Amino acid sequence: MYLQRRNRILRQSPSIRNLVRETILSPNDFIVPLFILEGENSQSEIHSMPGYYRRSLDETVKEAQLLWSMGLKSVLLFVKCKDELKDNRGTEALNPNGLMQRSIRAIKEAIPDMLVMTDVALDPFSSYGHDGIVENNQILNDATVEVLAGMSVSHAQAGADFVAPSDMMDGRIGAIRKALEENNFTNTGIMSYSAKYASCFYGPFRDALDSTPGFGDKKTYQMDYANRSEALKETLMDIDEGADIVMIKPALAYLDIIRDIKNAVTVPVSAYNISGEYAMIKAAAKQGWIEEDKAILETVTSIKRAGADLIATYFAKDVVRLIG
Ligand code: PBG
Repeated sequence: MYLQRRNRILRQSPSIRNLVRETILSPNDFIVPLFILEGENSQSEIHSMPGYYRRSLDETVKEAQLLWSMGLKSVLLFVKCKDELKDNRGTEALNPNGLMQRSIRAIKEAIPDMLVMTDVALDPFSSYGHDGIVENNQILNDATVEVLAGMSVSHAQAGADFVAPSDMMDGRIGAIRKALEENNFTNTGIMSYSAKYASCFYGPFRDALDSTPGFGDKKTYQMDYANRSEALKETLMDIDEGADIVMIKPALAYLDIIRDIKNAVTVPVSAYNISGEYAMIKAAAKQGWIEEDKAILETVTSIKRAGADLIATYFAKDVVRLIG
């Protein structure tokens, strides 16, 4: 058979495949989410996230040191707030000595060059488990934005490099930028969860932080998963308002959205490979139905191939081990 082009020429050996591979993972691609608990010298495995832990701050600092030694240079902090400190306004989120603020200081002190990013949203601090202040079963936008701006300044004060608002209130990026400027935090970045969908895949995360909404769902602020143009609208607005990095979340059921946004913007694009996506791979692997390491690499590569410049993932350490 005569063929003018034979595509298999470029696939015939590992050497040629490696030479022409389009998407290469590196430790620099990853942001590592960390769940922090009060207490000392303790860690507990998250039931629905096998192999992933909540840790006390001293253990978290050790983990951050390990990550740094592996070339993972960016962490995204989440704290588990004690029930008795939760209220409707998320007051504890603004406590200068709160667990988040102490965690930022401790990690920056131990590893000054580690990029510390912080989750900015009320849900872990809210007695209702919602990302905003609740009144008559409604989530208030503007009053919530004020708290988010205060929270961001408080994180910046503690030394956060980036604040990462994950709440989906309207106008929060502009308000946070203004508050940071007014308080002279001109080096603090904003990584906005700009296209965040109301997803069933957040379940394991809500177990980790005990932050399941007490009533209703998050559909009046997080986006409808049937929508595509809306993701662009949200993201372009966040960039106008001052977002340095934008994020799509979840990642796997939203690879089309990642690509749309990558093609439309000039800021770095990140994607959050979330808890339910982690849990699915772990569960299938445990059953022996898929090969875990291969599934991890294929999944994470697909997110980068879709257009994510950065990936927040619970698999970061696994990936570094596998590409190492
Ligand atoms: C809440 C927040 C959530 C996640 C990150 N920040 C959950 C939610 O919106 O209910 C989910 C992360 C994950 O599932 O891995 N502000």
